[in-house]
Amino acid sequence: MALYSEKVMDHFRNPRNVGVIEDADGIGEAGNPVCGDIMKIYLKIDNDIITDVKFETFGCGSAIASSSMATELIKGKPISEAKELTNKAVTEALDGLPAHKLHCSVLAEEAIRLALRDYFDKNNIPYDPAEYPDPGCESCCHTH
Ligand code: FES
Repeated sequence: MALYSEKVMDHFRNPRNVGVIEDADGIGEAGNPVCGDIMKIYLKIDNDIITDVKFETFGCGSAIASSSMATELIKGKPISEAKELTNKAVTEALDGLPAHKLHCSVLAEEAIRLALRDYFDKNNIPYDPAEYPDPGCESCCHTH
């Protein structure tokens, strides 16, 4: 079996939603200090719906494919659904990632939640920090 699924290769070669949203409503950046990769997510939000999303990833192919798939999965969705997006869902949508590359998909989940937090903070919208954890040091301890 090939190491990477067709879907991973497709999203790696033709990533969707790459770029920057200049007037984003929320921006989230997640990094993995071990590999040094960084992912940044930009959200446009209207009436609780994610109307647009873009990403920049300075990272490995799996991180690029994960960001691309994650943006596709949350585009047009309500905040309540976007916040539930897990790295497992991203990985499943990609038809799997090799075990040692699973941590790459965690960046997408974290960056999206941080972008949602940023949106709430900017608009004085209360949220439960437990539902939007700031990965902080946690991510370095748990992704490897
Ligand atoms: Fe760092 Fe993939 S190796 S995100």
